[in-house]
Amino acid sequence: MSDLFYAMTMPGLETLAFSEIRATLPESTLVKFMRGIALFQTPELPENLLDLHTTEDVFVALAHIKGLRRGPDALRVLHSATLNADLTDAIASWRRGHHGARPRTWRVVSQMVGSYDFRRVDAGQAVTAALRKSMPHGMRPVEDDADLEVWLWLGGGDVLIGVRLSDATMRHRAYKHQHLPASLRPTAAAAMGWLSQPTPEDIVLDPLCGAGTILIERALLGPVTRELGGDIREQAVNIARRNVRAAEVDVSLKTWDARALPLGASSVTRIITNLPFGKQIGTREDNEALYTALIREFDRVLAPGGLMVSLTSEDRLWDRIIQEHGWKTQKKVVFVVLGQPASIFVSERA
Ligand SMILES: C[S@@+](CC[C@H](N)C(=O)[O-])C[C@H]1O[C@@H](n2cnc3c(N)ncnc32)[C@H](O)[C@@H]1O
Repeated sequence: MSDLFYAMTMPGLETLAFSEIRATLPESTLVKFMRGIALFQTPELPENLLDLHTTEDVFVALAHIKGLRRGPDALRVLHSATLNADLTDAIASWRRGHHGARPRTWRVVSQMVGSYDFRRVDAGQAVTAALRKSMPHGMRPVEDDADLEVWLWLGGGDVLIGVRLSDATMRHRAYKHQHLPASLRPTAAAAMGWLSQPTPEDIVLDPLCGAGTILIERALLGPVTRELGGDIREQAVNIARRNVRAAEVDVSLKTWDARALPLGASSVTRIITNLPFGKQIGTREDNEALYTALIREFDRVLAPGGLMVSLTSEDRLWDRIIQEHGWKTQKKVVFVVLGQPASIFVSERA
């Protein structure tokens, strides 16, 4: 029998997250995409679901309710769906992912997207009330730090109730001790690595590497020949060095100006980078001058047939500048970074 699972990622990255799931577990089939969620079936239990890079949390589904009404009757539906769910199987999946440990405590976490005639807490309580009846004896509900978390996600007509198989390290990564203000979420950095169509022959450059997240995530995705990175701020390079060491990956880092890289012509095969953008770092005029200088330099160092994967919120500006410099964009993925929409461009020379 196929079990139902779902992966949560950043809204906009759902299809990408599912393509990584398919690559990791080829027998998986998609059931549905929802906002920030890929719901899928897979025939056997997937310890390696916890190794996904573009997913922030992964769940075994207890229930998928379609067409939930907005009125208070919905609370009864949530209650009975929880009561009828197969908890034994879900707890067994949780235990397999936790070296056989037995969960002693549980709690319900609820999330609500869209408007309903009841409150999020009421929905959470409907599920909690049902679980009080159906949880195995010996497991008790707690407010915080529960061993086992049941998440209730309400997103318009669709509702998912599931047992969380992942923990916080899936989302935050253990290596990331040092943060910088404009630092990218590891999941987004992994998504960029994934979009670079990685091969073991890659020589990867992040010319504006900040805390080093993109290069680290690329190295964790799969084999690579060489990785190079740098930043104009020495402090950023020091932080990147510490993160690289903690992640136990091999990246060579330097303090440099990305507008004049100390690298030979055609010396790299992939550029993967998060450009400074918007209010985050520079002004628009600064960005126009910077982007123009950057694309000239990227043009020089990227080998023929190479790919550039770049992220910016200055979508139109970057699009125009790269086109003017003879590049074409194969693919664009829009998602939300620090509250504003941003685009990942996958581009090559025209
Ligand atoms: C959006 S941040 C990159 C964040 C990075 N991807 C991370 O996850 O930490 C842009 C970075 O570009 C750097 N930067 C800005 N102008 C630069 C230049 N001319 N040369 C090199 N780095 C530059 C900034 O110091 C900043 O760390």
